[in-house]
Amino acid sequence: MPSEKDRTGPADRPNDDLSAFWLPFTPNRDFKHHPRMLVRAEGMYFYDERGRALLDACSGLWCVNAGHGRQRITQAIREAAGALDYAPTFQFGHPSAFRLAARLVSLAPPGLNHVFFVNSGSEAVDAALKIARAFFQKSGQDQRFRLIGRDRGYHGATYAGISVGGIANNRRHFGPLLPGTDDHLPLPYDRARMAFTRREPEGGAEFAEALARTIALHGAETIAAVIVEPMAGSAGVFAAPTDYLPRLRAICDEHGILLIFDEVITGFGRLGCAFAAERYGVVPDMIVFAKGVTNGAVPMGGVIASRKIYDAFMQGPERGIELFHGHTYSGHPLACAAALASLDLYEEEGLFERALALEPVLENAVHALREAPHVADIRNAGLAAGIDLDPDLSEPGRRGYEVLTRAFADENLVLRVSGDTIALAPALVASEAEIACMVEGVDRVLQTLDRVG
Ligand SMILES: Cc1ncc(COP(=O)(O)O)c(C=O)c1O
Repeated sequence: MPSEKDRTGPADRPNDDLSAFWLPFTPNRDFKHHPRMLVRAEGMYFYDERGRALLDACSGLWCVNAGHGRQRITQAIREAAGALDYAPTFQFGHPSAFRLAARLVSLAPPGLNHVFFVNSGSEAVDAALKIARAFFQKSGQDQRFRLIGRDRGYHGATYAGISVGGIANNRRHFGPLLPGTDDHLPLPYDRARMAFTRREPEGGAEFAEALARTIALHGAETIAAVIVEPMAGSAGVFAAPTDYLPRLRAICDEHGILLIFDEVITGFGRLGCAFAAERYGVVPDMIVFAKGVTNGAVPMGGVIASRKIYDAFMQGPERGIELFHGHTYSGHPLACAAALASLDLYEEEGLFERALALEPVLENAVHALREAPHVADIRNAGLAAGIDLDPDLSEPGRRGYEVLTRAFADENLVLRVSGDTIALAPALVASEAEIACMVEGVDRVLQTLDRVG
């Protein structure tokens, strides 16, 4: 039983005991005194307990790409649960997992032919990194163990993810981290040159050259893989500059290093294509996906790997397990059903194309905030935008959190902030008016930020 002291229900809802749930990535004590409870969702809106509609400005957590409450998806989940609530994918299979894998391959760039299912973006990153190391062991290059991430990269919350990730708060309390992950490339961003750039900044090959320096330091023969987000999402929407990913690919190719795109956010239409690899014209060796694959309705993630990687594992006795990895719920029937229905919706409603058509709408709206108080930079690509605020140096992150809480309380907006950066990522079904409404709400909050108690 929680003690009386721990029963931290809000003053106006004294019977609600909120103490037991330890919320992730949340100031728990503040939340439990001022809860932001969401009880229903439909289309572009969440609804709170009092029935107040709240415009969802970040597709949930960048995952509800086709909008909330899509009947096609919930019906598919219902049917799947009725027919096959669970089936193992260790040593057995069920048809929808195979159908979904084939469907994902058809959306992926040419050459990426094999899908390994897990249950989240973090697990997908973990799987990709394990596959990379194991690939080299299978290929007789077992001294290749280094995994290179990037400053401000977000690759989930597991030990592997925070090790290759580059967000300081996610790492600093949890060391020591995974061996072989100490090197990080710079984020391809230079505020002095790139602030307020619309879409991808020009150039940027020089940021990829940092990989050549890491190779010179350690020797390519010790490096297994480089993992990057084609557009860094959680750090605050940093799209790859035009020459960056082609140069990174070329350096990896020259030195036999695998290139992994973490497309957990950029997959399934966020940048106007099935995968960002298509937008940037660069094919990685593996794509990591999650979130939008099921429109957020059931947890699922996965890795799409190249034929070269898959084939390296398909050796030895045919009755021998080739990859000692997987999860109880890998390829869960409900997740597969949700994913197949989501991919149907994306295709039938032309949502990836719609994201591209809405790109200038979001772009013009957010860049109009340039003169708003505290705004230090604005970036956008596809249906994603990041707005950096100058931090309050005595308490970094305070302004961002205040924007989130005030937007919820006063503007009926569910926003995403990371530190003092606001992220907007409307679902691909958003109307122009809804996009305008999000940005106007943020503007009104900024106009009075630091002026009210
Ligand atoms: C690029 C990227 N990779 C990995 C993850 C982790 O995904 P999950 O939260 O499903 O574990 C995220 C989550 O936001 C992400 O943005």
